Formats: sequence, structure tokens, C-alpha cells
Amino acid sequence: MSEPRRSKVRKLLGRDARLWKVAKASYSAGLRLNRRLVLATTWKSKRDLLALQSGGLQVQLGGGDRGIAGMLNIDARMTRAADMVADCSRLGRFDDSSLTMIFSNAFFEHLYRQQQLPLLQDCFRTLKPGGLLLFLGIPDFESVCREYLAANSGTIADYSRLEWAYRYTHGDPEQFPEWWSKQLHKSLFDSDELAALARSAGFAAVMVFRYWYPGETWPVNLGLCAGSSVSEAVVRQLLERFGEYVDVTTVDVIPSVGKS
Ligand SMILES: C[S@@+](CC[C@H](N)C(=O)[O-])C[C@H]1O[C@@H](n2cnc3c(N)ncnc32)[C@H](O)[C@@H]1O
Repeated sequence: MSEPRRSKVRKLLGRDARLWKVAKASYSAGLRLNRRLVLATTWKSKRDLLALQSGGLQVQLGGGDRGIAGMLNIDARMTRAADMVADCSRLGRFDDSSLTMIFSNAFFEHLYRQQQLPLLQDCFRTLKPGGLLLFLGIPDFESVCREYLAANSGTIADYSRLEWAYRYTHGDPEQFPEWWSKQLHKSLFDSDELAALARSAGFAAVMVFRYWYPGETWPVNLGLCAGSSVSEAVVRQLLERFGEYVDVTTVDVIPSVGKS
């Protein structure tokens, strides 16, 4: 890292490290409003710091309580992992060609249908050349129907077969009454729909894959990877970083949607 960069990083760290500590402490103490205020003043510094440290900014949309190190973690709710509290259905706060990765898990299906294409267009606009979009954990309606009709029994806690289908199609929002509407799935997807949306947004290379979530025995999750150039090898290598979300041994790239 060059000296001017190093001194920028030192400056950002010096000023905001104390604020971040206050933010974390206030959350632990239950002072959520304080933390919201602190985040409103610190997210830009964290953004600049991450961009400098990792050679480009990576963001996580709808990260909930699961923060990812090295990414700017954003959620509509003030969660313990959030670096920024914002509606992720648009990325208006980010400049053109300013991001190297846009990641989400179990988020895209929480948007209304009319919000999907505008968000993907924003992703296309904000990604740098060579940058990648990776959306995981999107329930595959086709597979959910297939498994339901085959009367397979799943390995998700004590869910009955119908409750299990509801978990995937609707998100089982009743488990989180205080943020029911954010948890509700507002859309259904299959692989064709996902790929068509990404292409309409402008992405030249689009891959969709099906996989099992770790510990589950259902191939009902879809992943979408898009960029200017995406190969199966790139996707598989990328997924190694996200083993917490994907049983990588089960990844099955859907060949038909790989074609333009
Ligand atoms: C099922 S949770 C997934 C959380 C996390 N990504 C994970 O893998 O556990 C969906 C998350 O999306 C967030 N969310 C829903 N709609 C959102 C929106 N429009 N903007 C930002 N976050 C949103 C919710 O608050 C929630 O934290």
C-alpha cells in the first residue's frame, strides 16, 4: 500500500475506531437508537476504509445478523452486524463502477416483484468492470414443488411437509412477528426467471446454480452469479469463501441458463 493510502487508512481508523466501539457497546447495552445514530455517521468512513484495504468495496445486502468480514454489511433493520441501515432495494448511495462484489444470502426474495429489475440494474451500474454479483439462498419454486409432490421428508427441524414448503415460498414470517413484513417472501423464482432478470439488467455473463444449504437435504436453493465474464470455475472458486451458506459439494450449475 502506498504511503498516501496508508495515511488515509490511519486517519479513518483513528477517527472511527472509537465511534465503532461506542456503536457496539451501545448495542450490547440495548441502546439501539444510539447505535443507529452512530452508524449514520460512520458508514461512509467504513466504506472508504474497506475500499482502501481490500482494493475495492464489497457490500452485503440484507445481511441481517450475519456480518461478513471485509464487506459493508447493510440491512433495512438495525441488526448487530449492520454497518449501515438502509433499504437495499436500490443502491443510490453508491457511485457508478465503485463496487467489486455485491453479495446477498436469502435476501432477493424479500423484494417485491417490481423492485427486482431496478435493483439488478443498480448492481450492474455500481459494479466495476470485472466485479461480481453473487446472490445466494433464493428458494427455487420448481424444486420446492417437486419435493413437495414427491412427498419427501426434509431435515429441517420439526417442520411438517406443508410447513416446510411454506418456509420456502413465504419465509415463515410468523417466526419473527416484530419484523414480519421484512421476513415475508414477496416473490417466487425459478432458474429461468432469475437468469432473464439478470440479462435484462445488462449483465453479459450469467450463471444460475442449485445447491443444498449446509445440513439440509434439499436442492431447493438457487444461486445467481453475474458479471462481465463468469465461468463455472470462477463460481466454484468463489463459493469456497461462502461455505457457511452453501454445501459446495452439492452445487449444480444449470446449463441451459448459462447460454445467452
Ligand atoms: C432471511 S433474512 C437473511 C439474513 C442473512 N442474509 C442471512 O443469511 O441470515 C432477510 C434479511 O433481509 C432484510 N431485508 C428485507 N427487505 C430488505 C430491504 N428492502 N432492504 C434491506 N434489507 C432487507 C431483512 O431485514 C432480513 O435481515
